[in-house]
Amino acid sequence: HLVCPMNMSPYVDPHKTSQEIWEEFSMSFTPAVREVVEFAKRIPGFRELTERDQVSLLKAGTFEVLMVRFASLFNMAERTVTFLSGKRYSLDLLRSIGAGELLTSMCEFSEKLAALRLDAEEMSLFTAVVLVSADRSGIQDLNSVEALQDKLIRALRNQLMQNHGAEAATTFTKLLLKLPELRSLNNMHSEELLSFKVHP
Ligand code: HEM
Repeated sequence: HLVCPMNMSPYVDPHKTSQEIWEEFSMSFTPAVREVVEFAKRIPGFRELTERDQVSLLKAGTFEVLMVRFASLFNMAERTVTFLSGKRYSLDLLRSIGAGELLTSMCEFSEKLAALRLDAEEMSLFTAVVLVSADRSGIQDLNSVEALQDKLIRALRNQLMQNHGAEAATTFTKLLLKLPELRSLNNMHSEELLSFKVHP
């Protein structure tokens, strides 16, 4: 099994070699990763960072951006996860074939994010904040990354103030509190990925 919704299905063909399984899986998730790169290039100010810092932020933050973007794959009303093929699998089925605590944490994250009812523009600004807030270890020009982050956070807050009336301040706070949650999901997910690489 390969229980990641970025795959086409959680089942793998037992006749395939682990290299073939990875190749097929890569074909499934690569378009989504490319879109993150294209999205980053469109964040005003991102391309003005040093090329190395752009790469560092993308390496550290791509999973977190994808997590936000694909949170809607987790349907908590129906207790299902939609894989990239479009096919849906129940949480119970995914648990029975090996998914664990991480799946549960991602479901909770997605449900709470959906409850904030962000529109496309707010979602896009939040995603930009997520990317420039990625792990800073190895960043060369911290001041520029922080200045860009501040600018994006202000833009997000202004956007929320326009659309969410009395709830705007709480929504803003809740979104900022999602950043450490995303970091923790990223760390847990990296461990799953590594152990899968070791024992496919
Ligand atoms: C698990 C790879 C992105 C959700 C895994 C596993 C791998 C993997 C190898 C372990 C599979 C297993 O042991 O059966 C990747 C790669 C990604 C990616 C290379 C980069 C594009 C994502 C994203 C999400 C996600 C964006 C969420 C939207 C999950 C879930 C699991 C998982 C729910 C199972 C967790 C559990 O066992 O509790 N991923 N993944 N992955 N991934 Fe991903």
